Amino acid sequence: MKLIDGKQVSASIKEGLAEQVATFPEKYGRVPHLVVVRVGEDPASVVYVRNKAKACEACGIQNTTLVLPEETSEEALLEKIRALNADDSVDGLLVQLPLPRHISEAKVIETIDQSKDVDGFHPYNVAGLWQKTPHMSPCTPQGIMKLLAAEGVDPKGKRAVVIGRSNIVGLPVAKMLLDANATVTLCHTRTVDLPSVTRQAEILVVAAGRAKMVTGDMVSPGCVVIDVGMDRDPETGKLCGDVDFDSVAPKAAAITPVPGGVGPMTIACLMENTVQCFLNKQNKR
Ligand code: GUN
Repeated sequence: MKLIDGKQVSASIKEGLAEQVATFPEKYGRVPHLVVVRVGEDPASVVYVRNKAKACEACGIQNTTLVLPEETSEEALLEKIRALNADDSVDGLLVQLPLPRHISEAKVIETIDQSKDVDGFHPYNVAGLWQKTPHMSPCTPQGIMKLLAAEGVDPKGKRAVVIGRSNIVGLPVAKMLLDANATVTLCHTRTVDLPSVTRQAEILVVAAGRAKMVTGDMVSPGCVVIDVGMDRDPETGKLCGDVDFDSVAPKAAAITPVPGGVGPMTIACLMENTVQCFLNKQNKR
Protein backbone atom coordinates (compact mmCIF):
# COMPACT_ATOMS: atom_id res chain seq x y z
CA MET A 1 0.00 0.00 0.00
CA LYS A 2 1.18 3.48 -0.88
CA LEU A 3 0.16 6.60 1.03
CA ILE A 4 -0.90 9.37 -1.32
CA ASP A 5 0.80 12.48 0.03
CA GLY A 6 -1.56 15.38 -0.67
CA LYS A 7 0.60 17.73 1.35
CA GLN A 8 3.55 17.16 -0.93
CA VAL A 9 1.60 17.48 -4.19
CA SER A 10 -0.09 20.58 -2.84
CA ALA A 11 3.26 22.10 -1.80
CA SER A 12 4.68 21.61 -5.26
CA ILE A 13 1.62 23.25 -6.88
CA LYS A 14 1.95 26.21 -4.50
CA GLU A 15 5.67 26.55 -5.25
CA GLY A 16 4.91 26.71 -8.97
CA LEU A 17 2.24 29.33 -8.35
CA ALA A 18 4.58 31.40 -6.17
CA GLU A 19 7.10 31.54 -9.02
CA GLN A 20 4.39 32.53 -11.48
CA VAL A 21 2.87 35.17 -9.17
CA ALA A 22 6.33 36.68 -8.57
CA THR A 23 6.37 37.73 -12.23
CA PHE A 24 3.00 39.53 -12.02
CA PRO A 25 3.99 42.88 -10.46
CA GLU A 26 6.25 43.62 -13.40
CA LYS A 27 3.79 42.26 -15.99
CA TYR A 28 0.52 43.52 -14.57
CA GLY A 29 1.44 45.99 -11.82
CA ARG A 30 -0.04 43.91 -8.99
CA VAL A 31 -0.62 40.42 -7.59
CA PRO A 32 -3.94 38.47 -7.42
CA HIS A 33 -6.24 39.29 -4.50
CA LEU A 34 -8.49 36.70 -2.84
CA VAL A 35 -11.23 37.73 -0.42
CA VAL A 36 -12.50 35.05 1.96
CA VAL A 37 -15.68 35.78 3.91
CA ARG A 38 -16.51 33.88 7.06
CA VAL A 39 -19.84 34.39 8.83
CA GLY A 40 -19.90 33.26 12.45
CA GLU A 41 -17.56 30.99 14.36
CA ASP A 42 -18.09 27.46 13.00
CA PRO A 43 -14.92 25.76 14.33
CA ALA A 44 -14.09 23.90 11.10
CA SER A 45 -14.60 27.08 9.09
CA VAL A 46 -12.24 29.00 11.38
CA VAL A 47 -9.51 26.44 10.59
CA TYR A 48 -10.24 26.26 6.84
CA VAL A 49 -10.28 30.04 6.45
CA ARG A 50 -7.00 30.36 8.35
CA ASN A 51 -5.42 27.72 6.11
CA LYS A 52 -6.62 29.55 3.00
CA ALA A 53 -4.96 32.75 4.22
CA LYS A 54 -1.72 30.84 4.92
CA ALA A 55 -1.75 29.32 1.43
CA CYS A 56 -2.19 32.79 -0.08
CA GLU A 57 0.85 33.93 1.82
CA ALA A 58 2.89 30.97 0.53
CA CYS A 59 1.91 31.82 -3.06
CA GLY A 60 2.39 35.59 -2.79
CA ILE A 61 -1.34 36.14 -3.31
CA GLN A 62 -2.93 39.06 -1.48
CA ASN A 63 -5.56 37.85 0.99
CA THR A 64 -8.32 39.62 2.84
CA THR A 65 -10.29 37.63 5.39
CA LEU A 66 -13.58 39.25 6.38
CA VAL A 67 -15.19 37.93 9.53
CA LEU A 68 -18.86 38.87 9.95
CA PRO A 69 -20.90 38.17 13.09
CA GLU A 70 -23.18 35.13 13.24
CA GLU A 71 -26.25 37.40 13.33
CA THR A 72 -25.39 39.16 10.03
CA SER A 73 -28.59 39.34 7.97
CA GLU A 74 -28.85 37.65 4.60
CA GLU A 75 -29.39 40.99 2.88
CA ALA A 76 -26.33 42.54 4.57
CA LEU A 77 -24.18 39.61 3.40
CA LEU A 78 -25.56 39.83 -0.15
CA GLU A 79 -24.86 43.59 -0.16
CA LYS A 80 -21.28 42.93 0.96
CA ILE A 81 -20.89 40.38 -1.86
CA ARG A 82 -22.26 42.85 -4.43
CA ALA A 83 -19.76 45.47 -3.24
CA LEU A 84 -16.88 42.98 -3.56
CA ASN A 85 -18.14 41.96 -7.03
CA ALA A 86 -17.92 45.62 -8.07
CA ASP A 87 -14.48 46.12 -6.51
CA ASP A 88 -11.94 45.89 -9.32
CA SER A 89 -9.08 45.18 -6.90
CA VAL A 90 -10.70 41.83 -5.93
CA ASP A 91 -10.00 38.89 -8.26
CA GLY A 92 -11.36 35.94 -6.30
CA LEU A 93 -14.19 35.82 -3.76
CA LEU A 94 -15.56 33.01 -1.63
CA VAL A 95 -17.92 32.73 1.29
CA GLN A 96 -17.01 29.84 3.57
CA LEU A 97 -19.78 27.27 4.02
CA PRO A 98 -21.73 26.25 6.03
CA LEU A 99 -23.57 29.48 6.74
CA PRO A 100 -25.87 30.24 9.70
CA ARG A 101 -29.31 28.78 9.04
CA HIS A 102 -31.04 32.11 8.46
CA ILE A 103 -28.89 32.72 5.35
CA SER A 104 -29.66 30.95 2.06
CA GLU A 105 -26.48 29.33 0.72
CA ALA A 106 -28.05 29.15 -2.74
CA LYS A 107 -28.65 32.91 -2.78
CA VAL A 108 -25.09 33.59 -1.60
CA ILE A 109 -23.60 31.29 -4.23
CA GLU A 110 -25.57 32.83 -7.08
CA THR A 111 -24.77 36.38 -5.96
CA ILE A 112 -20.99 35.90 -6.21
CA ASP A 113 -19.89 37.09 -9.65
CA GLN A 114 -19.20 34.11 -11.89
CA SER A 115 -15.82 35.56 -12.89
CA LYS A 116 -14.68 35.77 -9.23
CA ASP A 117 -16.17 32.44 -8.13
CA VAL A 118 -12.96 30.63 -7.14
CA ASP A 119 -15.02 27.84 -5.54
CA GLY A 120 -16.69 27.00 -8.86
CA PHE A 121 -20.07 26.85 -7.08
CA HIS A 122 -21.99 29.40 -9.19
CA PRO A 123 -24.75 27.80 -11.31
CA TYR A 124 -23.06 29.04 -14.52
CA ASN A 125 -19.76 27.46 -13.47
CA VAL A 126 -21.53 24.21 -12.56
CA ALA A 127 -23.26 24.28 -15.97
CA GLY A 128 -19.89 24.88 -17.63
CA LEU A 129 -18.48 21.70 -16.09
CA TRP A 130 -21.45 19.62 -17.30
CA GLN A 131 -21.59 21.23 -20.73
CA LYS A 132 -17.80 21.38 -21.27
CA THR A 133 -17.77 25.14 -21.77
CA PRO A 134 -15.26 27.50 -20.07
CA HIS A 135 -15.78 27.59 -16.29
CA MET A 136 -14.09 27.74 -12.89
CA SER A 137 -13.61 24.17 -11.76
CA PRO A 138 -14.57 23.21 -8.17
CA CYS A 139 -11.50 22.80 -5.95
CA THR A 140 -11.94 19.46 -4.18
CA PRO A 141 -12.91 17.45 -7.30
CA GLN A 142 -10.08 19.09 -9.23
CA GLY A 143 -7.70 18.26 -6.37
CA ILE A 144 -8.77 14.60 -6.47
CA MET A 145 -8.08 14.39 -10.22
CA LYS A 146 -4.65 15.92 -9.70
CA LEU A 147 -3.85 13.45 -6.91
CA LEU A 148 -4.74 10.55 -9.21
CA ALA A 149 -2.55 12.03 -11.94
CA ALA A 150 0.33 12.54 -9.50
CA GLU A 151 0.04 8.88 -8.51
CA GLY A 152 0.17 7.85 -12.17
CA VAL A 153 -3.41 6.53 -12.00
CA ASP A 154 -5.15 7.09 -15.35
CA PRO A 155 -8.94 6.74 -14.89
CA LYS A 156 -9.33 5.73 -18.56
CA GLY A 157 -11.03 2.34 -18.82
CA LYS A 158 -11.21 1.91 -15.04
CA ARG A 159 -14.27 1.31 -12.89
CA ALA A 160 -14.66 4.27 -10.55
CA VAL A 161 -17.17 4.32 -7.72
CA VAL A 162 -18.11 7.60 -6.01
CA ILE A 163 -20.00 7.49 -2.71
CA GLY A 164 -21.77 10.80 -2.09
CA ARG A 165 -23.89 13.00 -4.35
CA SER A 166 -23.24 16.53 -3.07
CA ASN A 167 -22.91 19.52 -5.39
CA ILE A 168 -19.50 20.27 -3.86
CA VAL A 169 -17.78 16.89 -4.32
CA GLY A 170 -19.74 13.77 -5.38
CA LEU A 171 -21.52 15.04 -8.49
CA PRO A 172 -18.64 17.08 -9.98
CA VAL A 173 -15.94 14.45 -9.30
CA ALA A 174 -18.14 11.81 -10.94
CA LYS A 175 -18.43 14.04 -14.02
CA MET A 176 -14.66 14.63 -14.10
CA LEU A 177 -13.94 10.90 -13.84
CA LEU A 178 -16.44 10.28 -16.64
CA ASP A 179 -14.72 12.90 -18.79
CA ALA A 180 -11.42 11.13 -18.05
CA ASN A 181 -13.01 8.00 -19.58
CA ALA A 182 -13.63 6.02 -16.41
CA THR A 183 -16.85 4.05 -16.10
CA VAL A 184 -18.50 5.71 -13.12
CA THR A 185 -20.98 4.44 -10.57
CA LEU A 186 -22.44 7.17 -8.38
CA CYS A 187 -23.90 5.87 -5.15
CA HIS A 188 -24.63 7.02 -1.61
CA THR A 189 -25.19 5.99 1.99
CA ARG A 190 -28.65 4.61 1.15
CA THR A 191 -27.48 2.51 -1.79
CA VAL A 192 -28.78 -1.05 -1.41
CA ASP A 193 -25.93 -3.49 -0.76
CA LEU A 194 -23.27 -0.79 -1.00
CA PRO A 195 -20.40 -3.27 -0.39
CA SER A 196 -21.27 -5.20 -3.57
CA VAL A 197 -20.95 -1.92 -5.48
CA THR A 198 -17.77 -0.65 -3.84
CA ARG A 199 -16.05 -4.01 -4.34
CA GLN A 200 -16.29 -3.36 -8.10
CA ALA A 201 -14.19 -0.21 -7.75
CA GLU A 202 -10.69 0.19 -9.11
CA ILE A 203 -10.90 3.82 -8.01
CA LEU A 204 -13.08 4.54 -4.96
CA VAL A 205 -13.88 8.14 -3.98
CA VAL A 206 -15.65 8.46 -0.64
CA ALA A 207 -17.41 11.75 0.10
CA ALA A 208 -20.28 10.56 2.24
CA GLY A 209 -19.63 12.64 5.37
CA ARG A 210 -19.86 9.64 7.68
CA ALA A 211 -16.93 8.63 9.87
CA LYS A 212 -15.19 5.35 8.93
CA MET A 213 -18.16 4.09 6.87
CA VAL A 214 -16.03 2.25 4.30
CA THR A 215 -14.45 -0.82 5.85
CA GLY A 216 -11.91 -3.35 4.55
CA ASP A 217 -14.57 -5.87 3.48
CA MET A 218 -16.00 -3.27 1.08
CA VAL A 219 -12.80 -2.84 -0.94
CA SER A 220 -11.18 -5.18 -3.47
CA PRO A 221 -7.42 -5.68 -3.41
CA GLY A 222 -5.52 -3.13 -5.51
CA CYS A 223 -8.16 -0.39 -5.31
CA VAL A 224 -7.03 3.26 -5.24
CA VAL A 225 -8.94 4.87 -2.36
CA ILE A 226 -9.59 8.62 -2.12
CA ASP A 227 -11.05 9.68 1.24
CA VAL A 228 -12.72 13.09 1.16
CA GLY A 229 -14.11 12.78 4.69
CA MET A 230 -13.23 15.12 7.51
CA ASP A 231 -14.98 13.64 10.51
CA ARG A 232 -14.55 13.02 14.22
CA ASP A 233 -14.12 9.44 15.35
CA PRO A 234 -17.15 8.93 17.64
CA GLU A 235 -15.05 6.77 19.99
CA THR A 236 -11.79 8.72 20.30
CA GLY A 237 -12.93 12.21 19.18
CA LYS A 238 -9.92 12.30 16.88
CA LEU A 239 -10.01 13.60 13.30
CA CYS A 240 -10.75 10.79 10.84
CA GLY A 241 -12.05 10.19 7.33
CA ASP A 242 -15.04 8.42 5.78
CA VAL A 243 -12.75 5.42 5.30
CA ASP A 244 -11.73 3.11 8.12
CA PHE A 245 -8.04 3.50 7.36
CA ASP A 246 -6.78 0.58 9.45
CA SER A 247 -8.91 -2.06 7.73
CA VAL A 248 -8.86 -0.54 4.20
CA ALA A 249 -5.21 0.50 3.83
CA PRO A 250 -3.79 -3.08 3.78
CA LYS A 251 -6.00 -3.92 0.78
CA ALA A 252 -5.55 -0.67 -1.16
CA ALA A 253 -2.89 -0.10 -3.83
CA ALA A 254 -2.86 3.52 -2.69
CA ILE A 255 -4.88 5.56 -0.21
CA THR A 256 -5.16 9.18 0.95
CA PRO A 257 -4.68 9.79 4.68
CA VAL A 258 -6.93 12.09 6.70
CA PRO A 259 -5.61 14.65 7.38
CA GLY A 260 -2.97 15.25 4.71
CA GLY A 261 -4.65 13.76 1.62
CA VAL A 262 -7.42 15.58 -0.22
CA GLY A 263 -7.65 18.58 2.15
CA PRO A 264 -4.40 20.30 1.15
CA MET A 265 -5.24 19.72 -2.52
CA THR A 266 -8.51 21.65 -2.21
CA ILE A 267 -6.56 24.67 -1.06
CA ALA A 268 -3.85 24.32 -3.73
CA CYS A 269 -6.60 24.26 -6.38
CA LEU A 270 -8.20 27.31 -4.77
CA MET A 271 -4.90 29.15 -5.24
CA GLU A 272 -4.80 28.02 -8.89
CA ASN A 273 -8.35 29.26 -9.43
CA THR A 274 -7.47 32.62 -7.87
CA VAL A 275 -4.56 33.04 -10.29
CA GLN A 276 -6.87 31.95 -13.13
CA CYS A 277 -9.50 34.58 -12.22
CA PHE A 278 -6.75 37.21 -12.09
CA LEU A 279 -5.35 36.19 -15.48
CA ASN A 280 -8.81 35.99 -17.09
CA LYS A 281 -9.37 39.57 -16.00
CA GLN A 282 -5.96 40.74 -17.29
CA ASN A 283 -6.55 39.05 -20.64
CA LYS A 284 -9.93 40.75 -21.06
CA ARG A 285 -8.38 44.22 -20.87
N1 GUN B 1 -16.85 24.42 3.20
C1 GUN B 1 -16.28 23.21 3.04
N2 GUN B 1 -15.59 23.16 1.90
C2 GUN B 1 -15.72 24.36 1.31
C3 GUN B 1 -15.22 24.91 0.10
O1 GUN B 1 -14.51 24.29 -0.70
N3 GUN B 1 -15.57 26.22 -0.14
C4 GUN B 1 -16.37 26.93 0.68
N4 GUN B 1 -16.67 28.17 0.34
N5 GUN B 1 -16.84 26.43 1.81
C5 GUN B 1 -16.52 25.16 2.11
